[in-house]
Amino acid sequence: MNIYVIGFMGSGKSTTGRKIASSLRWNFVDTDQLIEKQDGLSVSELFALRGEKYFREAEKKALVKASAGSRTVVACGGGTPCSAENIDIMKKTGVILYLRLPVATLVSRLEKSKNVRPLLQGETDMIARVQDLLALRTEWYEQADIIADNQNSTVEELAGRLADLIRSKGAFI
Ligand code: S3P
Repeated sequence: MNIYVIGFMGSGKSTTGRKIASSLRWNFVDTDQLIEKQDGLSVSELFALRGEKYFREAEKKALVKASAGSRTVVACGGGTPCSAENIDIMKKTGVILYLRLPVATLVSRLEKSKNVRPLLQGETDMIARVQDLLALRTEWYEQADIIADNQNSTVEELAGRLADLIRSKGAFI
């Protein structure tokens, strides 16, 4: 059983995922880091040199690898849950937590971030771009078992809710 942390770019999946893992004493992996290790290139280099289609294949491979673990918190890339195949892997092997933030918060966090995401590079109207992409992805993100809104819950509360959910499925925490 694993925990998958999903959400838009800039929603804090890795930071929150890492904290949940340490609170539950579980392992932690980040799919973008797995991809970078797998391919020996950064996410930006992969997009630039091989294109998005290649990246999505590498992302699926990384998810399959992460899903084979147990007691692992998996911080996913923003696009990882956005395919039937990928979200099915997550549902079959764990529980899913969606970190939901309003567009304005996402944009302000992304504009401050040193990590310029390939899908947002050179974008002049960030609000419109984030709004559009989020609208396309909401149907995937909202399939999560738990939706955490606007950072209203502490990591301990989230970890507690996840632990209850995992136990209710008859698995061990
Ligand atoms: C992507 C999100 C990125 C990374 C890649 C594509 C996306 O991860 O996987 O740039 O499609 O939303 P973060 O969500 O960690 O920024």
